[in-house]
Amino acid sequence: MLRKFGLVIGLVIALSGCQSSPTFLNPASSISTHEANLYRTILIMALVVFVLVEGALVWILIRDRKRSDDGELPPQIFGNMRVEVVWTVVPILLVLSLFIMTVQTTNNVAVPDAQSSDLNLRVVGHQWWWEFDYLDLKIATANELHIPVGTTVQINLESRDVIHSFWVPQLSHKTDVVPGQHNTMWLKADEVGVYLGQCAEFCGIEHALMRFKVFVDSQEDFDAWVANQQQPAYQPQTEMEQAGYKELTGACETCHSIDPAEINSIKKGPNLTHLLTRTTFAGGTFDLNEANLRSWLEDTEAMKPGNDMEVNMSSQKIDEIMAYLMHLN
Ligand code: CUA
Repeated sequence: MLRKFGLVIGLVIALSGCQSSPTFLNPASSISTHEANLYRTILIMALVVFVLVEGALVWILIRDRKRSDDGELPPQIFGNMRVEVVWTVVPILLVLSLFIMTVQTTNNVAVPDAQSSDLNLRVVGHQWWWEFDYLDLKIATANELHIPVGTTVQINLESRDVIHSFWVPQLSHKTDVVPGQHNTMWLKADEVGVYLGQCAEFCGIEHALMRFKVFVDSQEDFDAWVANQQQPAYQPQTEMEQAGYKELTGACETCHSIDPAEINSIKKGPNLTHLLTRTTFAGGTFDLNEANLRSWLEDTEAMKPGNDMEVNMSSQKIDEIMAYLMHLN
């Protein structure tokens, strides 16, 4: 029985570090590493306490069970000083050690003082997508964040509507994104890779579809990505593209922008200047390809109910917009 129990515990601990899972137990930053270490330490301490307490309980229940030849009540005892001291002092020491470890971890993951080498970002939560504004680099993108490996990223969190929560489990803990308030957090990724993020505060019907990706690039790849993002939008060539461009800089402009540097006016919808450099759209919900984009323009409501993009366009207009959109590299 105990052996089986040990096997289960071993399995839980092994799974909690599963390499492919996008959880904080598979950390790619010092923040998540500190948090994972604290979690594992507390888990092991709790398991030891559980096994000892439950083991003692079961053992006593079996050893002192009522037997058929038992006559009168056993001698009644009241209190045991030694046991009382042990079960008072040991939990106090355990809780104290948890407190000290938690304070240490909190200090280890606190936002570091700003340095000139930091990357400054503004993250804006919208129902239901993420806006990423690179304040120093003068670029804006959505739902897919690029950061260079090993660089401290200072993040200002803002919301345009309701409370959201910014969370990339493998890189950092959750931080609430509150309207009218400027919360801060930071990231510093140790390994190149792609990490999944998710809004972690219920924010309406499509809360679950408010995802994002963090691309941790080598410095070289990041610089190349930035250089491309800073380029102005594609200039329309054909008549169809011209018509699409006119639409995008007309009616669509109310919510979208195709100016790479438009980061100071927080619009309702994502900056589309380099839309096709992203792999997903609509809050990380759909793969970004021609078929999905066309379906989106045809009926956004069917694809992501409750979203703010109300469009009702003729297929002619959709063709024109698509002709231009598919060049926004
Ligand atoms: Cu935004 Cu949940």
